[in-house]
Amino acid sequence: MIDRKLLLQIAQIYGTPSYVYDLEDVRQRYLDLKDQLKGLNATIHYAVKANPHPKILHTLHELGAGVDCVSFQEVAHTLKFGFLPSEILYTPSCPSEEELTKAMELGVHVHIGALEYLPWIAKNYPGRPVGLRLNPGVYGGATPKTATAHKNSKFGIPAEQIDRLLEMVKKLSLQITGLHVHIGSDVESLNDLTAGVDFLTGLVPYFPDLQYLDFGSGFKVPYKPEEPAMDLTAYMDHVAQRMKNFPHLQVKFEPGKYLVARSGILLMRVNVVKRTPYKNFAGVNTGFNHMLRPMYYGAYHHIVNLSAPNAKPEKYDVVGNLCEEDTFARNRELPRLEPGHILALQNAGAYGFVMASHYNLRPLPQEIIVDGTRIYES
Ligand SMILES: Cc1ncc(COP(=O)(O)O)c(C=O)c1O
Repeated sequence: MIDRKLLLQIAQIYGTPSYVYDLEDVRQRYLDLKDQLKGLNATIHYAVKANPHPKILHTLHELGAGVDCVSFQEVAHTLKFGFLPSEILYTPSCPSEEELTKAMELGVHVHIGALEYLPWIAKNYPGRPVGLRLNPGVYGGATPKTATAHKNSKFGIPAEQIDRLLEMVKKLSLQITGLHVHIGSDVESLNDLTAGVDFLTGLVPYFPDLQYLDFGSGFKVPYKPEEPAMDLTAYMDHVAQRMKNFPHLQVKFEPGKYLVARSGILLMRVNVVKRTPYKNFAGVNTGFNHMLRPMYYGAYHHIVNLSAPNAKPEKYDVVGNLCEEDTFARNRELPRLEPGHILALQNAGAYGFVMASHYNLRPLPQEIIVDGTRIYES
């Protein structure tokens, strides 16, 4: 974790609001996860959507990671950092034929999530390897917006269509080399994650050309200080157990926030402390245009008063500067705040800057990278 004094210096030198990423932490998370995969024939494909910052991609590439992309723009972006098409998974939502054409021509691993695309694949790319995104009908994920494998979700080919799928694969002579499932983001219950694993492994006998199973992500990260971390060992034990019968298959995972959430902090400045008969508001110099997660997902992000960590605690609503309701935290106990204090919103490395906008015509925040003793501004 980046030292408090260094964060205050960064705020002073580069200004706020600023995202600060700790590259050493990203490396550590990757190596920790890799360690958990020992004994499995597994590869890690970083979910680029979480944070496509060049330094992060460069770092993960150096460590040997592959990537998971959900748009062709992400694919093109990752090529610039040396990722080979064979290391790129492409798992798009409702892609156009043009996008699919580009991906197939490039030779990345394409995951098709609807039966409707299969005749087009067979006609235009006969005999070419392709993967399938399946939907086991399991509800898992921190919020309805990030639960992606239940019956009413738009993602993946539903379990109820497997018979039809098998008929089509046969009739169209499709070469299915990968099966993919992604239960959701921040999956609370291990049972929901392992249900996805069981679902895919149960289908292996029906797909003779398979080369890999991709279990997506769902790796939960603690957003609250007291929240327990996910039991990765138990999860990987389950995966190893289920894969025992399929030594010829590779396993793939697509973590996003597990690798980068903890590495990032959003530095913000208190513009005003407004005391009313009902509440104390701490008005900061950023809003959901820069960090959407608390407002869009109702996500908890821990906030630290870097300027006066030992001041007497008081309760505040920490609110943004947009002309709209944008509350980062309600009734949050924080060391007494004063205008000019610098706050650190934690776990901001995933789905932070990448979801930022110019709403209210505010400029985007800066991104600062800390790599040991070196600091990079971008
Ligand atoms: C297909 C796919 N893979 C991987 C991820 C990464 O998820 P997370 O950031 O929760 O690890 C996502 C994000 O929801 C996704 O949609």
